[in-house]
Amino acid sequence: MFTVKNELFLQQTEESLIVGLYDKPIKFEGALKELDDAFDSQLTELIKEGDLSARSKAISILPTYGKLPVKRLIFIGLGKEKQADFHGVKEAFGHAFTQIKKLKLTSTAVALDSFQSDAMEIMDSAQAFSEAFGLATYEFKGYKKASNEPEKQIEKLTVYTEADTDEIKAALAVGYALSKGTNSARTLVNTPGNLMTASDLAHHAEQLAETYGFEVEILEKAEIEKLGMGAFLAVNQGSAEPPKMITLKYQPKEEWTDVLGLVGKGVTFDTGGYSIKPKDGIVGMKTDMGGAAAVLGAMEIIGELKPDQNVVAVIPATDNMISGHAFKPDDVITSMSGKTIEVLNTDAEGRLVLADAITYAKHHGANYLVDVATLTGGVVIALGTDKTGVFANNDELYEEVLAASEEAGEFMWRLPLTEKDKERIRSSKIADLNNSPGREGHAIMGAGFIGEFAEGTPWVHLDIAGTADTNKSGPLGPDGATGVMARTLALLAVAKGEK
Ligand code: BES
Ligand code: ZN
Ligand code: ZN
Repeated sequence: MFTVKNELFLQQTEESLIVGLYDKPIKFEGALKELDDAFDSQLTELIKEGDLSARSKAISILPTYGKLPVKRLIFIGLGKEKQADFHGVKEAFGHAFTQIKKLKLTSTAVALDSFQSDAMEIMDSAQAFSEAFGLATYEFKGYKKASNEPEKQIEKLTVYTEADTDEIKAALAVGYALSKGTNSARTLVNTPGNLMTASDLAHHAEQLAETYGFEVEILEKAEIEKLGMGAFLAVNQGSAEPPKMITLKYQPKEEWTDVLGLVGKGVTFDTGGYSIKPKDGIVGMKTDMGGAAAVLGAMEIIGELKPDQNVVAVIPATDNMISGHAFKPDDVITSMSGKTIEVLNTDAEGRLVLADAITYAKHHGANYLVDVATLTGGVVIALGTDKTGVFANNDELYEEVLAASEEAGEFMWRLPLTEKDKERIRSSKIADLNNSPGREGHAIMGAGFIGEFAEGTPWVHLDIAGTADTNKSGPLGPDGATGVMARTLALLAVAKGEK
């Protein structure tokens, strides 16, 4: 898909050429000077007139009228050189690809060196280019008859640069892998619940294992029962779909020590159970496996990038349904850890499936735990739909996760979890814990409940109820599932592997 050429881009014959413009004020130097010359200095004129802008996010598309072999130039404004950063340039590329997609072009080239600045290394530009390409051109095909017709897609991307082609190729591969894993997570979440059951999630994990050589284990209901995962099973009790406890292991090291555990909530549809959701709140609950999707997306990226870090991924997969068999408020259940739980709300099911999944990840040797879940409406009220909520029992692991999220460009914000909060979770009269201590600070209650099962193991919890999907398209993807946290989790594994 990507070709890297150590040539001047003036003779290239692609349908379009992307050129970055920094507001320096704009001077055409080097290769850009030759571009301007080819237009008899008309580009300089256009800038003077304000028709060509270097303002951040400005896109100007110019036909070349036969002056160059390429059909059109796509200028991206990058703003002030000092302010340009990796994520800004990535978004700028995203805007360009959105335009290219609209124009139904099938190939483009990029004058990569025009994106280089003091604040932005050329390798970062290459990574931003391929990552933006993958993210911005993502589409969920859906199921309409008409949408099955073949569509024009960008198939050929040529990168012109003076930099080392092998290094550029490596950076392009990293960016593309990040987008590919994110897009897989998006597709898992966008797929409706009837077509994305626990068995379908398990099947996806098996395919990843085959592609990347991971060890895979799918626990069936009988084995889950044998292990005593009473919390996970309670949520599945009302369902016609069998539960699956999915485990993937990636072991690049000789010894199975220093293991990062990634745990993702895989509720394929959340009706709320007998604490049933209102009719408006139930729509969209196919996204309740967004945590599982993030973990599977991260494993795909890890399979591509092969960091030097042992990773175990655990996904408890089930839907949360109603029937004569379903669990009910007031029920008391026993988790795999032995802790008993009074169920006060069957809609607080995420923490129940995660309780056993966390215990199981430790059973598989996880030394650090990061769980990801569309856990609470409370986090959406607290932080809105563009910030993931973070909780942690360990500052060092929190800092590592935060650093990975900054590298990925996925914003998160830490919320507190105090001893007083834990008292509320432990306040049941008849069991060790209760799964719903009330509305006040309920994102904290959800997090704290899961923390009871992490116990002394360093643990971070990511509540993505607000960020797993969006109703607004942006430069790096359409509306619908975002694939949030796939990149953060993968980059965490990469950073840990480099430590
Ligand atoms: N899956 C929901 C959380 C959710 C809400 C995800 C909105 C995405 C968008 C979760 O299982 C749930 O229902 N949580 C309850 C917890 C409450 C009963 C303590 C909630 O947030 O209302
Ligand atoms: Zn629920
Ligand atoms: Zn849920």
